[in-house]
Amino acid sequence: MLTVDEMKGLEGKKVYVRVDFNVPHKGAAISDDNRIRAAIPTIAALLKKGAAVVLMSHLGKVDWKKLKKGEKTEADIEAQMKKNDLVIAVEPLKAHLAAAMGKEVKVVFCPENRGEKLAEAVKELKAGEVLLAQNTRYQAGEEKNDAALAAEWAGLVDAFVMDAFGSAHRAHASTVGVPAALAAQGKQVALGYLMEKEVRNLGRCVEPKEDERPYVAILGGAKVSSKIEVIDSLLKKCDKILIGGGMSYTFKKAVYGIDVAASICEDDQLEYAKKCYETGKIVLSVDTKVVKGLNFDDLTAGPEDIKLIDGNGIDFPEGYEGADIGPKTIKLYSDIIKSAKTIFWNGPMGVFENPNLQEGTKGVCEACVEATKNGAFSVIGGGDSAAAAKVFGYTSEFSHVSTGGGASLELIQYDGHLPGIDVIKGE
Ligand code: 3PG
Repeated sequence: MLTVDEMKGLEGKKVYVRVDFNVPHKGAAISDDNRIRAAIPTIAALLKKGAAVVLMSHLGKVDWKKLKKGEKTEADIEAQMKKNDLVIAVEPLKAHLAAAMGKEVKVVFCPENRGEKLAEAVKELKAGEVLLAQNTRYQAGEEKNDAALAAEWAGLVDAFVMDAFGSAHRAHASTVGVPAALAAQGKQVALGYLMEKEVRNLGRCVEPKEDERPYVAILGGAKVSSKIEVIDSLLKKCDKILIGGGMSYTFKKAVYGIDVAASICEDDQLEYAKKCYETGKIVLSVDTKVVKGLNFDDLTAGPEDIKLIDGNGIDFPEGYEGADIGPKTIKLYSDIIKSAKTIFWNGPMGVFENPNLQEGTKGVCEACVEATKNGAFSVIGGGDSAAAAKVFGYTSEFSHVSTGGGASLELIQYDGHLPGIDVIKGE
């Protein structure tokens, strides 16, 4: 697999870099630009090699079903997306990018992501300059890996670098179509530094050696169904899986037959959850904080009504929902985490945004930090757990904090294979 350091002859060439600038944002306000800063070393190295860099990223999700069916012009699609707030222009990213690159680098934004205006902007781009193109998802062909779209993008440049780890599990035109088209023409396609780091670190969570065990995974998140495959895969790889967050109530109902009242629960997954538990590797909470009146519009507020259910065979009171693990579970999980040599954490234990419901997530986070200090290798698989570690001020205490949530889970699940990696390998 070619790396940025190994790329040759880039003086005066145009390099397409797929980055993942899908940052948390409210409209144009970006609350965390970590993903932008994480891509800078690759961009800087390519500029140093004399290249001009064309950056492409998506931002947000497009609900295509909400868009009317039938043929449309790009202007129609774009207008509808904006009207329905389905996807936003990536222009606000430019200021963050420019600040991260430093004053000496010229950063330009192209409001188009296809057609003459983009071709012209790329043509005018000089060595040492960076162009940020419009949101890749403005094009319907992006998510379908449309060959014509990929060929058009590939035709603009001389080489490709994949540095969008967060999107490496998506076989889209910008992540797979472009490098496949360029590789077919014998052009250089490489992995960026961010990708290299992710692949190396997450690779250690695929199959730890005997002296890197016990291997403990901590899994949260709302739905069992969305993580079925990864749970299956982790059951083969891990020594223990600690379950928290929304999915734990499906497990508790399945295993203890309790009424979980208003908690998130997938009744169609009860049998699956029970089967997983019977492997002996799943650990469930022994006490639970349940609440009434959670404010989903503002998770930091309230709730007034919090009860502790002390024991795991007890029905939750009517109208209450599980919202965090209790103190006994924090102790139980922390002891298991502290005995681990490899730790993979994906998903908070409760509503960590709320000061009254964050103890579980914080406790687990602190146990990971302590284990890391004692020599364990700890990885946060992106998403909410990375956000939680940041809130608690522990980001730098982990061995690795992945920039990809879904991508990190799939990398482990598929033993290191992701579409955006395999295409660079030529697989
Ligand atoms: C992410 O934030 O997980 C990545 O940017 C991928 O985004 P997606 O789930 O919308 O494809």
